[in-house]
Amino acid sequence: MLVMGVESSCDETGLALYDSDAGMLGHVVNSQHTIHGKYGGVVPELASRDHVLKLVPLLDELLNITAKDLKDIDLIAFTNGPGLLGPLLTGASFSKSLAWTLKIPSIEIDHLEAHIFSPMISEKSLKPPFISLLVSGGHTILSSVNTSTNYDVLGKTLDDSAGEVFDKVARHLGLPYPGGPQISKASAKTSSSSFKFPRPMINTNCYDFSFSGLKTHVTQSVNKNILTEELISNIAFDFENAILDVLISKTLRAATDLNVDNIVISGGVSANKRLRERFENEKRNKNIFFPDIAFSTDNGAMIAYMGYLKYHKDIKSSLEINPSPSSRLA
Ligand code: KG4
Ligand code: ZN
Repeated sequence: MLVMGVESSCDETGLALYDSDAGMLGHVVNSQHTIHGKYGGVVPELASRDHVLKLVPLLDELLNITAKDLKDIDLIAFTNGPGLLGPLLTGASFSKSLAWTLKIPSIEIDHLEAHIFSPMISEKSLKPPFISLLVSGGHTILSSVNTSTNYDVLGKTLDDSAGEVFDKVARHLGLPYPGGPQISKASAKTSSSSFKFPRPMINTNCYDFSFSGLKTHVTQSVNKNILTEELISNIAFDFENAILDVLISKTLRAATDLNVDNIVISGGVSANKRLRERFENEKRNKNIFFPDIAFSTDNGAMIAYMGYLKYHKDIKSSLEINPSPSSRLA
């Protein structure tokens, strides 16, 4: 079975082909960072317009690199939410029209679920149950994944998501959008700790997170100082360690409390190098799984793979286009 995945929930247009026997055949992604960079965040209307421009050329490129033809595709999986309404509509319209033309089914995919299962694309032995930490630009959710359709959300952020805080702190430091990779690059230049930033809710009994206090603390330090390259690195280093302390401590505690051996970390922030290293170093006796770096940030591969996991032969694909900006997980 050959599944095409289409991702367009925010500022990445991603397409991929997943073969149930051979695995991921190829994926292509266009990032709109240069379009939104000058505004410091995603402008929904510009995002929608760029998806419209990129979907068909990306489809041609995907078929080209995988040496496949449109008629080889058996199923089209597309992101139906959560995300920005305009961008979601572009991917949904494209996917449903193409599926209708090819007389094949289409399937709606929850973007957050696709992130959660993305490490299974390359880690064939990984299966639920596992503890999932999803850390992206829009969400921070800790859940217990019991089966591929049954989850218990243990906790989530009460205010900003982890990725959002990376982006906002970076903006204060004068670093370009998206800020997560920039913070990571700046913090890698130092190992000297000079700022004592808070670790919000690290010792509370619940599994919820709160990052807005940390963000305020960091921005106050930025405002009090004259920014030099060295200071930017020091602040980035201490900020990164503070947020990682909270994420790692709560996730490991959930795995211990629920007696679950496997921990899966996914979403854009899971591309963070220090987060990966520290989870590995501090994992105690747990097994830690990450997606391939290319499948951490938004991509079509995780959507194609989720389509494959969710497919069943009685699938009903209406022509109705009904994106859902929120997720049942959120
Ligand atoms: O999953 P994603 O691509 O989009 C959403 O579903 O939201 O996540 C994007 C987020 C952005 O906030 C970005 O700054 C963050 O992931 N991110 C990182 C890194 N790479 C991307 N955060 C920290 N370190 C990174 N290396
Ligand atoms: Zn995402």
